[in-house]
Amino acid sequence: MPALVSPPTVYLNGVFQPLDQARISVLDRGFLFGDGVYEVMPVYGGQPFRLAEHLRRLGNSLAGIRCANPFDDMQWEVLLRNLVAQNGGGDLSVYLQVTRGAGPNRDHAFPVGASQSVFAMASPLLPLPQVYRERGVSAVLVEDIRWGRCDIKTITLLANVLLRQQAVDAGAFEAILVRGAHVTEGAASNVFVVRECVLVTPPKGPLLLPGITRDLVVELACANHIPIHEAMLTTEDVRQADELWLTSSTKEIVPVTTLAGAPIGTGLPGPLYRRMMDLYQAFKDLARAGKYQ
Ligand SMILES: Cc1ncc(COP(=O)(O)O)c(C=O)c1O
Repeated sequence: MPALVSPPTVYLNGVFQPLDQARISVLDRGFLFGDGVYEVMPVYGGQPFRLAEHLRRLGNSLAGIRCANPFDDMQWEVLLRNLVAQNGGGDLSVYLQVTRGAGPNRDHAFPVGASQSVFAMASPLLPLPQVYRERGVSAVLVEDIRWGRCDIKTITLLANVLLRQQAVDAGAFEAILVRGAHVTEGAASNVFVVRECVLVTPPKGPLLLPGITRDLVVELACANHIPIHEAMLTTEDVRQADELWLTSSTKEIVPVTTLAGAPIGTGLPGPLYRRMMDLYQAFKDLARAGKYQ
């Protein structure tokens, strides 16, 4: 179980402090415009998981919104390990956010000389209910209404919020997004299908987030001789799949067994899902033991 101390300690602009004391200007552009980027990274046994990959994506997101990276990788690592230690270690979900900071007034144009706001917090990483893994979850297909740079992990998440709520309203676990003829990803996850024992996921590009979990699943598949390729998926490909999975840092790999009310494959998690979960858990155990990040 997570060993989070109470109240949680957060990092804000150079200061570690109790969550309830952290304050930020109402002119911060994160608050006014959603002008910033973020990362969510799991921590297992006090060890940040896939730290280098998360920091690389953070750097790409910052470059994508024309913001400087406030720290180099070593400085980020020191900051994050300090945050983890101050929150008791164990299994945590670390959230970090960088915004363009507060300008002198509310103006869309970049402010001159504003200093960025850097925020990080750690929360307990709660395992997904076992029933989700044993029976699978349901998802709905909804139109992807987001912008054209979904590869940037921006804090401007209103479209994702509305899409996810459509899933909640339908009693489903996740919304799977459809743009034109193709499935892009989930509202907060990437998508994989299994077709005749071959794993398929959409290629990276501006219309989906390059998920760290997605990449690890691809890596594990390649290392274990599981046939895999990247291809655009139509809604029919997804409906007719033998297996359908969602991936994300906090949810890991989740089998979808009902899509828009109809069963996927046998209606139960499939054999390749179970195999990949075993590989994923074994990889996590190594990371927990400090042997991999
Ligand atoms: C839109 C979207 N796609 C994919 C993912 C999965 O990314 P990761 O595996 O890095 O958590 C997320 C995670 O929150 C997401 O918000």
